[in-house]
Amino acid sequence: MTDPELLRARALTALTAARARTGTLTSSVDDHELTAQHSPLMSPLVWDLAHIGNQEEQWLLRAVAGQDAIRPEIDSLYDAFEHPRAARPTLPLLAPTEARRYAADVRGRALDVLESTPLRGGPLTDAAFAFGMIAQHEQQHDETMLITHQLRSGPAALTAPEPPPGSTEGLPSEVLVPGGPFTMGTSTEPWALDNERPAHHRVVSSFHLDTTPVTCGAYLRFIEDGGYREERWWDPAGWTMVREHDLNAPLFWRREGGQWLRRRFGVTEPVPLDEPVLHVSWYEADAYARWAGRRLPTEAEWEKAARHDPVSGRSRRYPWGDADPTAAHANLGQTHLRPAPAGAYPEGQSPLGIRQLMGDVWEWTSSDFLPYPGFVAFPYREYSEVFFGPGHKVLRGGAFSVDEVACRGTFRNWDLPVRRQIFAGFRTARDDA
Ligand code: AVJ
Ligand code: FE
Repeated sequence: MTDPELLRARALTALTAARARTGTLTSSVDDHELTAQHSPLMSPLVWDLAHIGNQEEQWLLRAVAGQDAIRPEIDSLYDAFEHPRAARPTLPLLAPTEARRYAADVRGRALDVLESTPLRGGPLTDAAFAFGMIAQHEQQHDETMLITHQLRSGPAALTAPEPPPGSTEGLPSEVLVPGGPFTMGTSTEPWALDNERPAHHRVVSSFHLDTTPVTCGAYLRFIEDGGYREERWWDPAGWTMVREHDLNAPLFWRREGGQWLRRRFGVTEPVPLDEPVLHVSWYEADAYARWAGRRLPTEAEWEKAARHDPVSGRSRRYPWGDADPTAAHANLGQTHLRPAPAGAYPEGQSPLGIRQLMGDVWEWTSSDFLPYPGFVAFPYREYSEVFFGPGHKVLRGGAFSVDEVACRGTFRNWDLPVRRQIFAGFRTARDDA
């Protein structure tokens, strides 16, 4: 068990870091762009901003501290289930100045609550859970806002240094992950969300897994081999999507004068061949894998590869062990605005030598988003439970867009198999025949 006072300090750090990132994402464009809808897939940035404050108010001020609502009339505006994203621009939302003031007001009070609340006596306050949950929630919306930045047109609003170099020289393209049982999920990670719990045994058969995510260069061979024109590679629903939208490449790619270009945060550049491919749907990942004579890994296979330590037989927090991530382990936290080349982050590799499991790009798995045996919704059904089922596919590992507070070996993300605007790529697997 982690010391509660350490978790109190960690919550303060995590909440402060999240707010700094929210500030960057919402101060780098003008008020007109904050209130505009850049894509029907996304909320106006100013909605995310006030929604962040509203969730914090509901959980830290009302649920934890028992305070009354500051502005009860705005709750329904920021309820994600009441209004679909496409309808949000026409709501009477708080204007940018008001939204900033509201979020700052809530934060001031929340920090008082954090300072004065005993961190025991209930599941919301034990291990500072609600504070960690709210820091993760804000970081998840920061990632959502980063997607909105990627979808907006116009010149670059964000800048960041280049990620470290990487090379696959001397690295085998795949390794054998031996079969056998391992512990999946967690019952001890203090801020793990409901869908990551509880820890349970799973048996996985031996399989081979790529040592790096699939690169743009490899994906281009699929394109050039006519991958988008051959029905046999595609799941039937994926083939329908390809034909309906006339797809022929990842989102944000275009071919010009014999060259493939991509748009990335307002900059158009040649597609970098050694970088993990981004902005592909589950259907595209699945089709590529079939074309390559391979398949996507299951979620359990991915987690075993990322967490199982063959020496101790234990599941660890990260591929490199139990230590928190550093800049040497993984490309996380919007430190860079792109994935690092395949083969980067050797210090972050797994015991079997699998690289970039954490950070860089979210990785599609073949699995539907389902509850673990013994799942209990907490603290609200709308976080995970309402999304369980065959409609959503699981993504693992986080991306350059994900903060470390919202990323660990057990963390589960999910989305519709048609989604392409998220920072998702994949790696492939095959049975040990
Ligand atoms: C876990 C990323 C799928 O953004 O829909 C934010 C996170 N839940 N507010 C989402 C979330 C409630 C969620 N994902
Ligand atoms: Fe939310």
